[in-house]
Amino acid sequence: MTEDAGAIYRAPVGTHDVLAPESTRWIEVVRRFADRAERFGYGLVITPLFEHAEVFERVGASTDVVRKEMYELTDRGGRRLALRPEGTAPVVRAYVQHHPTPPWKAWYVAPNFRYERPQKGRYRQHWQLGAEVLGIDDPDVDVEVIAFAHGFYVDLGLRQVRLRINSMGAPSDRAVYIDVLRKYLLDHGASLGEEFLTRAEQHPLRVLDAKKEEWQDVIERAPQLTEYLGDAARVHFERVQEGLEALAIPHELSPRLVRGFDYYTSTTFEFASDALDAAQDAVGGGGRYDQLAEEMGGKPTPGIGFGIGIERVLITCEAEGVTVGGDGPALDAFVIDNGLGEASTLLVAALREAGLRADRAYGGRSVKAQWKLADRSRAAYGVMLGADELARDAVAVKDLATSTQIEIPREQVAGWLLARREERSK
Ligand code: HAM
Repeated sequence: MTEDAGAIYRAPVGTHDVLAPESTRWIEVVRRFADRAERFGYGLVITPLFEHAEVFERVGASTDVVRKEMYELTDRGGRRLALRPEGTAPVVRAYVQHHPTPPWKAWYVAPNFRYERPQKGRYRQHWQLGAEVLGIDDPDVDVEVIAFAHGFYVDLGLRQVRLRINSMGAPSDRAVYIDVLRKYLLDHGASLGEEFLTRAEQHPLRVLDAKKEEWQDVIERAPQLTEYLGDAARVHFERVQEGLEALAIPHELSPRLVRGFDYYTSTTFEFASDALDAAQDAVGGGGRYDQLAEEMGGKPTPGIGFGIGIERVLITCEAEGVTVGGDGPALDAFVIDNGLGEASTLLVAALREAGLRADRAYGGRSVKAQWKLADRSRAAYGVMLGADELARDAVAVKDLATSTQIEIPREQVAGWLLARREERSK
């Protein structure tokens, strides 16, 4: 193989394959989220992997995700398309297109593509779990959405995830604030160089979430958006905070939390893990986007939602020593065929139909080799059927952890294995 071929037949930089047992944890995280979504009354929405590039351009003229990181392509029909860099714009586009009855509560699990500088926890393809609610601007919905995400981390057993909240105000509040902020930054950051001044001039809010060490002094003393909130936004934000307190959801006010997208209005929030490196410690984030549907040609429709990075959640679980799925046996039974062929095949089929996780070897392996495979399969029990057992209408069942073996009547083996599984799950 040439070196080129060696590089080509690898997952592209910034992407990765997920194999078992990692994928067992992955699917368990999705399952827990799906379960939670159902309990909160959200329906699954599935949108295309790519959209017309304009769908995303509309939401992020000043954001790197759209300006610098989007995977764009022109299809054979000359259409300008983009791989989804984030999940909210497609969901709002789908709402505008299909106008489901509001409030519309939708959840998703989907890959996103951003041409980022890859590092641990930052990828060019990452997966998000997310939820969006369209058609209602009641602050109780903000609280519900935040409680949905918060409870998800708690369900997983994560203890070091902190919630920070802020309000971006109404667009008119923000316009006043942006002028004040721009003036402050240009007046106080004159010595900080070209990049600072350009950003301060063009996208002053983007300066607030910059990580550059030498800018922090000026950023810390900058005027805060919450001081410029109009009455409506202030009251809304207060009610969100009261709602979080009523549900005993710990949160910190974070006036410099601006989040990376232009579409945010009013409530914004982020979940950060103390167990991750500060550079990419966000395990989830979201906020209101009350103008987005209208900007996409729909009726004025408020919206709010969040996205949670699956890879970051898994890294956080690892860092906090939390196990999600993949801990117990991978199979309930591995069937060993001691020369009977068809009778063993029927036994595997019967166990699977009874709801058990069962597997077997193929290719006429020796009994010894089959027992080895049984061990490697991480099954709880090896179930052997041979002529002797068949004559007694029984099977030999061996606990693969302790090597103790017993004989069980054949028609009782499925029930017996199900009962053991039940015991293990307690
Ligand atoms: P976001 O903050 O860009 O928001 O992404 C949400 C989460 O996805 C982040 O908190 C992080 O966990 C994960 N994430 C983002 N980029 C990467 C990456 N390159 N590699 C690994 N994980 C990553 C949004 O995308 C908004 N659509 C959220 C939202 C929904 N706002 C309202 N509704």
